[in-house]
Formats: sequence, structure tokens, C-alpha cells
Amino acid sequence: MPIQMQKIISLCKRRGFIFQSSEIYGGFGSCYDFGPLGVEMKNNIKKVWWAEMTKKQEDIVGLDAAILMSPRVWQASGHLTAGFADELVECKKCHKRFKKDELEKNQCPECGGELTKPRKFNLMMKTFVGPIEDEAAVTYLRAETCQGIYVNFENVLNSMRQKLPFGIAQIGKAFRNEITPGNFIFRAREFEQMEMQWFCHPKEANKFFDYWKKERIKWHTNLGIKKENLRAIEIPAGKRAHYAQRQVDIEYHFPFGWGEIEGVHNRGDWDLSNHAKHSGQDLKYYDETTKEKYFPYIIETSGGVGRSFLAFLCEAYQEIKGGRTKTTKAAKEVEVVLKIDKKLAPIKVAVLPLVRNKPKLVKKAKEVYQLLKPHFTCQYDELGSIGRRYRRQDEIGTILCLTIDFESLKQDDLTLRDRDTMKQERIKIKDLIKILKQKLEN
Ligand code: GAP
Repeated sequence: MPIQMQKIISLCKRRGFIFQSSEIYGGFGSCYDFGPLGVEMKNNIKKVWWAEMTKKQEDIVGLDAAILMSPRVWQASGHLTAGFADELVECKKCHKRFKKDELEKNQCPECGGELTKPRKFNLMMKTFVGPIEDEAAVTYLRAETCQGIYVNFENVLNSMRQKLPFGIAQIGKAFRNEITPGNFIFRAREFEQMEMQWFCHPKEANKFFDYWKKERIKWHTNLGIKKENLRAIEIPAGKRAHYAQRQVDIEYHFPFGWGEIEGVHNRGDWDLSNHAKHSGQDLKYYDETTKEKYFPYIIETSGGVGRSFLAFLCEAYQEIKGGRTKTTKAAKEVEVVLKIDKKLAPIKVAVLPLVRNKPKLVKKAKEVYQLLKPHFTCQYDELGSIGRRYRRQDEIGTILCLTIDFESLKQDDLTLRDRDTMKQERIKIKDLIKILKQKLEN
């Protein structure tokens, strides 16, 4: 694991972004828990995506489908057959298993032992519904959220009186029994997806594919990812997902190498035609103007919440040697600053009394904290020197720090310090909410 990645993982644990699932029992197979700061940041990512996809667009509506669905959905979608399986080999000596396409040699990378012939390994997570655990009760945790959208295509079309082209957006959990999970939350067994399915006329599919590809790259760069750390890879036939006629993987340059954070797929009529066949329902679209009846093509944008989260963290993480803090002791130390976009930062404002052994200062600071709490995600901190507290806030990406000093008691004001410019200005408490809104919302 590269050092940069180790530092980010350690920050995540130390500061309450991400913990290993069931850690007191030694952890549980590549599942992760988002801590108090992690859940704020994750919610921010989802909020920005939801706003981008539903509020800013005229033709996209939302959905929140169940995780558990009829197992017939997964037969129709191709996920229970060869389409959604990895080829696995096992070492005859140490019995470790590996993905065949990730191996460079025909020998075990761990012990050099002989490998078995490859075997298909399906990634769907099986479970049982109801009191009897037999084959009739088997179903699966969804492996992609979009199937809930396809099986509701008719419902949305009719209830919302939609006309093509239009989209349906959804955020939710997905599960895959990954054989080689790893790189922290990059490849997990339980993760969240933000997916938008755009239904259109087959003749317009290519045009919309290019449009959505650009939009999704722009979304990431607008939130702080540098252009040079993103690339879009066109996946050739034979390597694409089983449902895709065209596929572009949007990759981010993580400390451990390039990795996919979002996929843009032209799924053609794969899903609707298969669901029509398996369910016996007519899922074709009837265009009243042209009198044409056809299966719409689907352009999908499919992002992982966790992978974008990790990309934003990696991009924002900076170590600055000296220069930021002027006090002699701190100036020699490496300061960690999370230069995360203000829309994504878990904490927007920190309220800090200059010292904590002066009850009047503490009282005033707590009043300011209570005043701001309903409006912004805030933290109150009185422990340690003011320099240390600024640095603790910088490390978690807090945008603004407010310090209440002795002058504040006389003037009813405070000092506002900006994370990025380090500029300090005095603000009257009566103007505080208005000014913070301006600074945080623009
Ligand atoms: N509906 C299409 C679909 O699911 P995918 O390329 O298999 O396509 C889309 O997955 C996105 O979901 C990926 O780009 C990634 O961000 C996220 N994702 C997939 N598997 C994941 C895993 N095991 N852990 C974390 N995120 C994952």
C-alpha cells in the first residue's frame, strides 16, 4: 500500500471518517462503516449528485427501489449467468484464490504453487426470504441499483406522464461478493451507487452517450478533481460488461494507480427487452407523434459513492511543510490540510474560544455555536492551543474557523479565518449568519 494511501487511511480512522466494519471482532470482509465525519461527507456527495441529476435537469425524476427483488429480475438481467462472474483459480498448495485476469504468471503469486484450472465464480450475494431456507426462498442482494429502475420503467412512465427522452436517478446500496476486494473502500463487498438511467430513441443513443460522458467528467472536476487525474477509457468489445454495447470507464489516478470511479454505458435494449421477455409484460414505448413502438435504449451513468469519496479525499489531502502557521514550533512541522470543496466538507464552521479557562469566553463561544448549529454543520472545540485547534480543523477540511477572544466580549464580534487563504477578518456576530451563507454557498 503506497505511503500516501496509508496516511489517508490513518486519517480516516483517527478523525472519524471511516472505520472497518466489526473492528472489535477483527473486521469483516471488506465492509466499512462511515464515522461521524464520513457520513457528513458522504451525504454531501449524494446531495450534490442528486441536485445535479434531478433538480438541475428538467427530464430526470428520482426513485428509491427496494434492495431485495424477485430473483427473476437477476435471471432476466443476466447477472445469474456467465455475464456476472469472475474466472477464479486456486493455488493447490496454499489454497488462496485469485482472479485469473489479474495474474501475470501461471503460478501462485503468494507461494509459487501450482494453480487449478479457472472456475467461474458468480458475484451475486445470495440470501433467503421467509422462514424456510430452501431453493424456493432464495433471492439476492442487488448487485447494481439500476435493475430497480428498469422494472419500474412502466410505473414511472405512466405515473409521471413522461415522454422520451427522460431519465430516472437513484442512489442506494449494492452488494457484490468480490473475490479480490481491496485498496480500502475502493473495492468493497457492500457499497453505494449513484445511477442515472436515460431512456431514449435508439437513433439518439450515441449523441446522449457523449453528452453524459462529458457531464460526468465535468461533475468531478467542478468538485475539485484535477483534469490530469481523470481519464475516460473506451472499453473495446469483448471486455465490456455483458449488457453494454458501448462502455467508457471514468478513472481517477489514486495513489495506488488508475481506478474506475464511474462507468458510462450504452445498454441498448438489453434490459427492457429481457425484462419484457421474462415477465411477459409489454415494456415497449409508444410514441404518439410518430406512431412508432420500440424498446428505448438506455444510457446509464453509474458512479460509486465510496469511490468518488475516496477520490475527493485523495485529491484534497495535502501536506504543507512550514509557512502556514507562523508560531515557531508549528512552523517546523508538516501540516495536513484537506482542501476539499466547500460543498463536500463534512464540517463547514468551527467555533473556538481563544482559551478555555475564561468562563465568559466559553459562554460566548457556546452561544455562537448554538446560533449557527441549525444553519451549518459546526464543531465546537476548546481543547489545546488555538494553533493546534486550527490545525485539527484544517486536517478535516473545515472551511471556516471562528475565534472568540476578549475583544469579542466588548465588541460583540469574532475573528473569521479561512482554511485556504488563512486570511483573518473581524465579523460582527449580528451579521454572522448572512456572511457565512455568502461564503459557504457561493
Ligand atoms: N449499473 C452498472 C454498474 O453497476 P459497474 O461498472 O459494475 O456498473 C459502477 O459499477 C460503479 O459502481 C463503479 O464505477 C464503481 O464506482 C462502483 N463499484 C462497483 N463495484 C464496486 C465495489 N466492489 N466497491 C465499490 N464500488 C464499486
